[in-house]
Amino acid sequence: EYIRILHNLVGLEAELAQRLNLMQVVIIPGDSEADSAVRRELGRATASVLRQHLGDNMIVAVSGGSTMAKVAEAVNFSVPTTTVVPARGGLGEVVEYQANTIAAVMANKLGGRYRLLHIPDGVNEETLEAILDGDTNLRAVADMIKKANILVHGIGQAGEMAERRGMAAATIADIEQHGAVGEALGQYCALPGKIVYVTSSIGLKLDDLAGIDTVIAVAGGSAKAKAILAVAGTGEQSVLVTDEAAAKAIQLLI
Ligand code: BG6
Repeated sequence: EYIRILHNLVGLEAELAQRLNLMQVVIIPGDSEADSAVRRELGRATASVLRQHLGDNMIVAVSGGSTMAKVAEAVNFSVPTTTVVPARGGLGEVVEYQANTIAAVMANKLGGRYRLLHIPDGVNEETLEAILDGDTNLRAVADMIKKANILVHGIGQAGEMAERRGMAAATIADIEQHGAVGEALGQYCALPGKIVYVTSSIGLKLDDLAGIDTVIAVAGGSAKAKAILAVAGTGEQSVLVTDEAAAKAIQLLI
């Protein structure tokens, strides 16, 4: 029975890779939304994709989120020449799920180094530029992020992420009115892959991803199907790691 499920998933992986125009799709059996063991597996599968792409002296940028926290925990190999950085800073998450925290955890697991972005949440782009101008260390980290070889990021549902980040009700309404269903890196996307709102911050944006060799997105659970489709539709991901529940829900949408 297990073999049969795996076999079907391999077919679905190929189908989604083709339809979403991705280099690779990895689907793990089960539903990570309902089962914490599957959540852990999602983290492990993502860590093993990272391992395949990670060479010496690379910069790895990571997003925040509970899924990415599982990815960092699951890293069980060492590449000490790696530097891990947060992909973006100050998006308004609890400490456990901040990209900074995940970068530090992952770097320690790899036996490598990390550099952190200490910037406040909810500050406009102009003020951030002024902060960068006055802080050479911060500027160095910001420059390093742009040179990342690999990005690993989560995907969230637009409405849920906007609420979780405590955005103003008017902004949330505006984002929803523009049809946003998915979010990644603080950017809110509508189907089939249009960015409709960008949280002002420092670091990588979806537009920068073309310059990164490997972009690994990780997200599971059927509730995230549209979110995954919208973010994948921006066209900058190379690998998607997801679960059976999300994959089957995506299949029904495409
Ligand atoms: C956030 C990331 O921290 O986590 C987002 O900045 C991502 O890009 C989100 O969408 C996903 O969170 P979770 O907890 O659903 O994995």
